[in-house]
Order: sequence, then structure tokens, then C-alpha cells
Amino acid sequence: MIGRLNHVAIAVPDLAAATRQYRDTLGARVSQPQALPEHGVTVVFIELENTKVELLEPLGEKSPIAAFLEKNPAGGMHHICYEVNDIVEARDNLLASGARVLGDGEPKNGAHGKPVLFLHPKDFCGTLVELEQV
Ligand code: CO
Repeated sequence: MIGRLNHVAIAVPDLAAATRQYRDTLGARVSQPQALPEHGVTVVFIELENTKVELLEPLGEKSPIAAFLEKNPAGGMHHICYEVNDIVEARDNLLASGARVLGDGEPKNGAHGKPVLFLHPKDFCGTLVELEQV
């Protein structure tokens, strides 16, 4: 069901510092910051030849990554995003197999303007999984 690795996301306490580190130390191409209030994060994307890395900084009071950063103050790997062709079909198959979809189960528009869903980390080897329809 899953296709390509779309991105790996890293939660960071300071997006500007993380951007400098990736851009200036690693020589990466880093996008402009994008505020996503409906997801409670500001993101930048690092464009690699074969995939992307997403850096996430909390935005607003109730950011879903705030608790993660409390546990991991230096930042850390937050989720991994796989591409799917049909997100509703993927969701229905996952629910039928007993996996848990976070939130209300309805796809939301992600950072690329495409529908995304998140799957419970306890069902996937301790890793938060994002599915993105491409
Ligand atoms: Co993501």
C-alpha cells in the first residue's frame, strides 16, 4: 500500500538555528519557513535528491509537538511520511486491520496542500507515521 518515503520530520526547539545548521554546516537547500496554524507548527523543508527532511517548530499554545520537545529538548525525529495513492482507501484498510488513525480520522491538508493522516505510533514500531496522498 505505501509508496515512496516523502519525508522524515524532525522537531526542533529553534527553527532558525536548525535552518542555519542544515544550510550552512551541511550545505543543504532549505525552503522558506511556512506557518501551518491548523497543525500547530512552522515548517521548513530540506530538499534532498531522493527525499525531503521537514523541520518542525511549535506554533501557538497547543502545538502537538510541544510535549515531544519537553521530552526531547534538543529536538528529535518526530515522524516519517509515506506516500499513498488513495488516502481514504488506505485509511479504511488500516482501520479494518485494527490500526488507529489520530484525530477525527478525516484527512487534513498538509504542508504541501495535499491530504494527510497520522497513524498511532504504538501501532507502527513506536514511530508516528504520516500518510500523504500524492
Ligand atoms: Co510531515
